[in-house]
Amino acid sequence: MKTAIIGAGVMGRTLLSGLQAAGGWDLVASTRSTETATKVAEDFGLPIFTDNHQAVADADLVVLCLKPKNILQVAADVAPALKKHAAVISIAAGVNLADLKTALPALQPLLRAMPNTPCQARAGMTVICPAPSASSEQIKTVKRMFEAVGRALILEEEHINAVTGLSASGPAFIYLVIEALADGGVMSGLPRNVAVELATQTTLGAARMVQETGQHPAALKDAVTTPAGCTISALLRMEDGGLRSVLARGVEEAARRAGGLLSRES
Ligand SMILES: NC(=O)c1ccc[n+]([C@@H]2O[C@H](COP(=O)([O-])OP(=O)(O)OC[C@H]3O[C@@H](n4cnc5c(N)ncnc54)[C@H](OP(=O)(O)O)[C@@H]3O)[C@@H](O)[C@H]2O)c1
Repeated sequence: MKTAIIGAGVMGRTLLSGLQAAGGWDLVASTRSTETATKVAEDFGLPIFTDNHQAVADADLVVLCLKPKNILQVAADVAPALKKHAAVISIAAGVNLADLKTALPALQPLLRAMPNTPCQARAGMTVICPAPSASSEQIKTVKRMFEAVGRALILEEEHINAVTGLSASGPAFIYLVIEALADGGVMSGLPRNVAVELATQTTLGAARMVQETGQHPAALKDAVTTPAGCTISALLRMEDGGLRSVLARGVEEAARRAGGLLSRES
């Protein structure tokens, strides 16, 4: 399957890198400037175009890795050059399937995806929302594409703002948590680099415990707390500070803001 990545910025390059490492993907890409095209061609050893029509000409999958404010214009521009059954995938935050549909031929298979920055470490979380025009085979292929850079899940588009608030904004929340835990370690006498390493690996380990045991996080938390011990004492202090509701309300706030992203960008 020939795959065209339109836009080779942070996310476009992340996908190129993951797909190249996974192997079996026939890749081309395009950028706006010749400077970026030259650099990306050098880094990946792939055909990189500055003409989007050339990039999509033979492509079965076309991934639009563009800023939200550019995406509809570029989609409309490449529409006449697309193969009839090529699946178009947009990763632009805040641009919904109905808007994308207006820029493309009526029956063009269409999917929307919301990845996150840990895709760069191939530990990403991507949610894929297919339009009815996408075939089950195309949905499977697009899922496999994002699995090259982490995990991927298929959901209805009605959930996309909540997804944006949780998994797309979420890495920033966890960085803050890691930094705060490390501060606590430093305050208790650890060197900064040691504190960051301990906080990071503890976060990673706890996440893997939730993922691998399938247990509810509350059950895993209970297993760490001994009666009258230091962990339950710290947890009560965190509850006093409203940590749980601050995090939950933060996700809710990000989800609410996600609904108006495009109108603020343009
Ligand atoms: N970064 C994230 O964490 C993240 C997470 C989820 C979703 N997203 C979404 O991913 C999308 C891309 O974000 P990004 O961070 O990768 O952006 P970026 O780093 O700014 O990259 C944008 C790329 O688009 C290219 N471009 C602009 N206009 C073009 C055109 N007309 N034709 C072809 N290429 C064109 C640019 O080329 P030049 O360099 O030549 O100008 C650049 O390579 C956004 O819609 C964002 O909402 C990002």
